[in-house]
Amino acid sequence: MALILGIETSCDETAAAVFCTNTEQILSSYLFSQIDLHQEFGGVLPEVASRSHVEKIDMIVKIALDDAKITLDAIDLIAVTSHPGLVGSLLVGLCFAKGAAFAKHKKIVGINHNHGHILSAMLEQNGQMIKDFPFPHLSISLSGGHTSIFNVSDKNNYVLIGQTIDDAAGEAMDKISKLMGLGYPGGPIIEKLAEQENFTDFYKYPRGKDKTSLNFSFSGLKTAVLYHLVELGAFDLQKNTVTEKMTSEIKSRVASSLLVCIKDIVLTKADLAMNKFPEIKAVTMVGGVACNKFITCELKKFCTAKNKAFFSPPKKFCTDNAAMIALVGAEKWVRKEFDDLFLDIARPTSKV
Ligand code: KG4
Ligand code: ZN
Repeated sequence: MALILGIETSCDETAAAVFCTNTEQILSSYLFSQIDLHQEFGGVLPEVASRSHVEKIDMIVKIALDDAKITLDAIDLIAVTSHPGLVGSLLVGLCFAKGAAFAKHKKIVGINHNHGHILSAMLEQNGQMIKDFPFPHLSISLSGGHTSIFNVSDKNNYVLIGQTIDDAAGEAMDKISKLMGLGYPGGPIIEKLAEQENFTDFYKYPRGKDKTSLNFSFSGLKTAVLYHLVELGAFDLQKNTVTEKMTSEIKSRVASSLLVCIKDIVLTKADLAMNKFPEIKAVTMVGGVACNKFITCELKKFCTAKNKAFFSPPKKFCTDNAAMIALVGAEKWVRKEFDDLFLDIARPTSKV
């Protein structure tokens, strides 16, 4: 049996969690979200993020250990996000983890944040890992920082088969929300407004021309929405601000059309991937955008029609968290794949 301490500070959540390999159970998962700190900027401000991580990391790890009713002495492995992410933010978690590993003579391993999201699909609401999870499966990972599809052949092997060539899905929603003066993060606001419009596609925004690639592109969609708002007279390009013509009706209709468009793009990519990899048994949707009930429900219906199982983690494990980092750490523990105290943030630490 091993106890894994997961630490995650790659963006704007300071998070720690403890996982027990024996019971395959998350014993504790705690985080501080910096959303309030970044709201006024309409996005994550890296300097503000790293300073906040410095202030909180000590306390967050202590709470996670307390909640698990253990001390650092009982931990066998410290698994810390080492890439990808904001450099200053990653450094805080990494330096804390290295300090703790050095002081307490603990093993340490650097974890790829995206691999954490992949395994998050296996977590139930109570932190228990789902037994007999189907492999191989497709992992569709959509967040503010990344948008990727992986072919996951087992808990330790993930092949990237598609990714965004520009903006991430959540980033597109965040940027369009900012454009319309709606606030940050944009995803949940867009979802609420779209619900008011019953998820109607008023404006038929472009879904992208390339129907054969598993890569995503969202920057064209963002530009299409911007020029549409200019056309409606609701956005002034010169002043870079909304005009008095930006009515609540325009906001909700744009939000609804945008969400339906993103949902269609996700379903198209899922369909393409299922055709390219007919051996896959299931599809998962993970990352912050997986909080979106409309997209996950539509994807689930689509998968059911195609005879594929569908999984998406509970909301608390969709957005960034340390439980998912501890899960990948547990796989490293089984394989005895550890790092040393020269671990840094720029160097990917394993082949997967
Ligand atoms: O995974 P996450 O917490 O952080 C990153 O790694 O980026 O994802 C945050 C992203 C943001 O872009 C946010 O707008 C989006 O997830 N998001 C949503 C919803 N809740 C959060 N997008 C669509 N619908 C939601 N309900
Ligand atoms: Zn993430």
